[in-house]
Amino acid sequence: MANMNANHAQNAPAYFSAHDIHAYYGESYIVQGVSMNVHEGEILALLGRNGAGKTSTLRALARLDDPAVHKGEIWLDHQPLHTMKSYQAAQAGIALVPEDRRIIQGLTVEENIQLAQIEPPIGWSLERIYDLFPRLGERRKQEGTTLSGGEQQMLAIGRALSRDIKLLLLDEPYEGLAPVIVQEIEKTLHLIREQGITTIIVEQNAVAALNLADRALILDTGQVVFDGTAKEVLDNEELRHEYLAI
Ligand SMILES: Nc1ncnc2c1ncn2[C@@H]1O[C@H](COP(=O)(O)OP(=O)(O)OP(=O)(O)O)[C@@H](O)[C@H]1O
Ligand SMILES: [Mg+2]
Repeated sequence: MANMNANHAQNAPAYFSAHDIHAYYGESYIVQGVSMNVHEGEILALLGRNGAGKTSTLRALARLDDPAVHKGEIWLDHQPLHTMKSYQAAQAGIALVPEDRRIIQGLTVEENIQLAQIEPPIGWSLERIYDLFPRLGERRKQEGTTLSGGEQQMLAIGRALSRDIKLLLLDEPYEGLAPVIVQEIEKTLHLIREQGITTIIVEQNAVAALNLADRALILDTGQVVFDGTAKEVLDNEELRHEYLAI
C-alpha cells in the first residue's frame, strides 16, 4: 500500500483518532484529555519526559484494564475501540509492543510467533517475518528468552506483525540497545511503514524517533503540549529543551 501521509485530505477522518481521552489508575488521574489523529501509513512519535504519561496513553489506547478510560473516544478504521475490551481491540487491529517485550519463556522464537497465530485474524507469515528480520530466521529454534535484547525486540515486533494489525504501538523499542542495533531496528521500521503499517512510537531517544516519524505529539503531565510535524520539533530548540531535554 502506498504511503499516503503526503496527500491525505486535510478534513478526511483520520485512520486512527483519539478524542479527549481521560484515564485513571484507581483515583490517580493520569491521562488528562489527550487527542490525536494518525493517518494511514504514518509514523507518529509520542514524546515527553519521564512520567509524562506516554506508556499510560498507549495502554489506554490499547484498552488495557489499567489505566481505565473514563471519558473519550478511540476510533481505528471506523471501529469504536472505546467500546471494547483489550482482546476485542486487539482483534480490531491494535497491537501494543510493551517495553518489557513479553517473550514467552520455554518457547522457541518460532513457537512465540506461532502462538500469536493460533486464531484469526492472522497477519504476516513466518517467511515474511524472517525476511524482515533475518536474525529471527537464523534463530528460529532458539528459546526466545535467550535472545539478545535487540533480537527480543525484533521478535516482539515480528510477533505483533504475525497478527493482521492496523496500528502498531511501540513503547521504547530502542531501550537498552546498542546504537548499531537501534539502526537495524530503525531500518526495519522504515520497511514496515513501506508495507502500509501505521505506527505510534514512544521513545526516550527522541532524536531517533523524530528522524523516523512523520509527526510528533509531545505530552506533559498527561496533556498534549505540542502536535505537529517531526521536523518542527527538530527545528525548535526551545521545545526540545523544555520537554525533551535534547
Ligand atoms: N499502575 C499505576 N498506578 C498509579 N500510577 C501510575 C501507574 N503507572 C504509572 N503511573 C503514574 O502515571 C504517570 C505517568 O506514567 P507513565 O508510565 O505513563 O509515564 P511515561 O511517560 O511512560 O514515563 P517513562 O518515560 O518514565 O516511561 C506517572 O506519574 C506514574 O507514576
Ligand atoms: Mg513509559
